[in-house]
Amino acid sequence: MGLRFLPATKAIPKEMLPIVDKPAIQYVVEEAVQSGFEDIIFVTSRSKSEIEDHFDYDYRLEHTLREQGKHDLLKVVQDISQMITISSIRQKQPLGLGHAILITRSSIGEEPFGVFNADEITADEIPCMKQLIGVYEKYRSSVVAVQEVSQEAISRYGVVAVEPVEGEDDRVLLVKDVVEKPSPQKAPSNLAVIGRYILTPTIFQCLKRTKLGAGGEIQLTDALRSLIEEEPVYAYRYEGPRYDAGNKLEYLIATVEFALQREDLGEEFRRYLKNLKL
Ligand code: G1P
Repeated sequence: MGLRFLPATKAIPKEMLPIVDKPAIQYVVEEAVQSGFEDIIFVTSRSKSEIEDHFDYDYRLEHTLREQGKHDLLKVVQDISQMITISSIRQKQPLGLGHAILITRSSIGEEPFGVFNADEITADEIPCMKQLIGVYEKYRSSVVAVQEVSQEAISRYGVVAVEPVEGEDDRVLLVKDVVEKPSPQKAPSNLAVIGRYILTPTIFQCLKRTKLGAGGEIQLTDALRSLIEEEPVYAYRYEGPRYDAGNKLEYLIATVEFALQREDLGEEFRRYLKNLKL
């Protein structure tokens, strides 16, 4: 519901809040496209139809931009509508991430698939999901991206207990357990699950058996725990930049860092920041 960003999210889904001039969700979709995904399913809810509209073809807007000779903007808008085939599934009740994945079962079928939590934005040269695909291709097993986080932040995440994998450096690890949002004292490590997963279809059977857990939701973390009992699950230590755009401070940091990298804005913005008397 985007409660942390009220009042901005009263009438706009949180995924549509802009970072510089692109809605947050577009960064996530671009990561999927750059990782080689062609079919994307949005799991949305009643108040989120703007997300589908954003990736849809907008005849009136394209027509106006063409008429006005605004070819650069026309290209920006066309690129978005041609980026992906959109399908979406409505999650009728807020029953959590596990439930959101479970309701895609008939669309996905018996194939491995990727999950992107839309409020996490990653920005590595090789997209985070593409790096996960590398691990999946080697082991043909589920892989979750993890990153070290501070003690103060650990209770916002699922946290893994891991073991080394023979022949790997410590980027690829075997998951022994996952704990959802532990207190710093109960966290099994400082490696947090950062909302990028490749999952085998076995997860659907695990999700189906998963009862409502923390917060009255079907937790993916609980289903991952039973998946671990059936087949190996790997953790991949993602080392690139990542922003939890659902957190106000990180959202601001993402805005500043993305603006600094922009060819059209970066230089002037850097000059402005340097002159700030802080
Ligand atoms: C979800 C998962 C959690 C994971 C996090 C990453 O939590 O349940 O395990 O660490 O995404 O963003 P949420 O942010 O939906 O509370």
